[in-house]
Amino acid sequence: MHDINEQLDNKRAAARQGGGAKRVAAQHAKGKLTARERLELLLDEGSFEEWDMFVEHRCHDFGMQDNKVPGDGVVTGYGMINGRLVFVFSQDFTVFGGALSEAHAEKICKVMDQAMKVGAPVIGLNDSGGARIQEGVASLGGYADVFQRNVMASGVIPQISLIMGPCAGGAVYSPAMTDFIFMVRDSSYMFVTGPEVVKTVTHEEVTAEELGGAGTHTGRSGVADLAFDNDVQALLMLRRFFNYLPLNNRDGVPVRESGDPPERLEPSLDTLVPDNANQPYDIKELILKTVDDGDFFELQPDYAKNIVIGMSRMAGRTVGIVANNPQVLAGCLDIKSSIKAARFVRFCDAFNIPVVTFVDVPGFMPGTAQEYGGIIKHGAKLLYAYAECTVPKVTVITRKAYGGAYDVMASKHLRGDVNFAWPNAEIAVMGAKGAVEIIFREDKDDPVKLAAREAEYKNRFANPFVAGARGFIDDVIQPHETRRRICRSLAMLKDKKLDNPWRKHGNIPL
Ligand code: HXC
Repeated sequence: MHDINEQLDNKRAAARQGGGAKRVAAQHAKGKLTARERLELLLDEGSFEEWDMFVEHRCHDFGMQDNKVPGDGVVTGYGMINGRLVFVFSQDFTVFGGALSEAHAEKICKVMDQAMKVGAPVIGLNDSGGARIQEGVASLGGYADVFQRNVMASGVIPQISLIMGPCAGGAVYSPAMTDFIFMVRDSSYMFVTGPEVVKTVTHEEVTAEELGGAGTHTGRSGVADLAFDNDVQALLMLRRFFNYLPLNNRDGVPVRESGDPPERLEPSLDTLVPDNANQPYDIKELILKTVDDGDFFELQPDYAKNIVIGMSRMAGRTVGIVANNPQVLAGCLDIKSSIKAARFVRFCDAFNIPVVTFVDVPGFMPGTAQEYGGIIKHGAKLLYAYAECTVPKVTVITRKAYGGAYDVMASKHLRGDVNFAWPNAEIAVMGAKGAVEIIFREDKDDPVKLAAREAEYKNRFANPFVAGARGFIDDVIQPHETRRRICRSLAMLKDKKLDNPWRKHGNIPL
């Protein structure tokens, strides 16, 4: 008995050492924590239940039979984040560079399978040199097994990837299929092919950081949602983010009691929107003043800034916020912003998170770049996402809602449950100037007449009452009562039931 206990202790100690003191020191020297240190920060203290600590690879090539580390480069199991269950895997760069072997993949698949059975999210901490080169196709098969599970889990349990080191080649496609990707600045990168291959094929000289660092993916490509300065900050923010999420697609949204009264009025909002319709204002001020405790967890803040997305709570319950941002491109919809918001709306819909939409949109972005880039197809993604969405939808038009973009932004016609407008809202096919230039073309050389026509058009259409008269707007509300009216609407909608017709799946314009 004594022997076997000692053996167990020795095996555990060996696994905990990972790739050994030298490699751990090298990891720390890069400003990175080890796989286990990361899990300690991510999970509630003492809650981690580790699985498969004794798993070893089965490779016999290239002398690998004499080179085994228990755990095989990934730490897996489950634990709690603020008392809520989560499954985790954390790749250990100190063991074969965190490279994925067949056995390593099996460990990840095991926690994913269990997470699906019990309905709990999976968080992956990625820090890996990719496919275990010594194992060849066995490793590729392991990746594909993980990919398949990512897809089956999509829309069933939330999946989050935190990239904390290299993530290259086909390995990027597992995170790419998860719901959210967070990255660590300066120590993580993601690319399909690295700088050397890029140089050979396209003759471009680019550093790993420029090609696939956190700045690139949160600002240019939109692949990642957020970037953090270091491992500690990333893990603590991930804990915060986790608090907003349901555990699965049948769980309701989590509730966090707040001292912020749902009936709170916010008089300062009455002067938020400038009189001049072309003058921008800060839509985030509206969000912060409307949600519980001014707490808004913004996603993709550096990408497609003309639309703002993120998680908040209203009356204690999680909501997804989507808002046009008049400060960037006048808040118009373009390719990037449509894709950004569409994917977010679909996440909310999949996980029963109500969507609150603030609308101030002058239309779709014109131009060859947009048309050649496929704005028709990409704009349709957002339209499709809102139309397909069956969770509670509350919409507030704060100023402009022009053209097709009016329809797209969670309008009544796309089954918006409650559609409000502020008194100064302009709901029309287009702005007054553009409209009169088209319908009164004969007056184009007469500025006085044109101005009169513009005033007439403005008077007739630049208000919320034409839409209100048709019931497209349920009520015109004062800005200061926005929080109260949304909270009441969401309370009314709490048990909303709406099903789409049975189908294998729809065909969203990808
Ligand atoms: C086996 C690997 C490895 C790998 C790194 N190591 N990558 N072992 N398979 N893929 C080992 C190294 O041998 C080394 O072992 C240790 O991990 C640390 O690696 P270093 O090179 O010393 O670290 P660093 O200088 O930080 O460089 C990290 C790195 C580099 C950039 C990731 O290791 C690298 O380029 N690795 C190869 C990446 C790659 O080509 N992977 C396959 C991609 S294709 P010792 O014993 O010295 O500590 C792919 C396809 C996936 O992944 C397809 C899915 C469908």
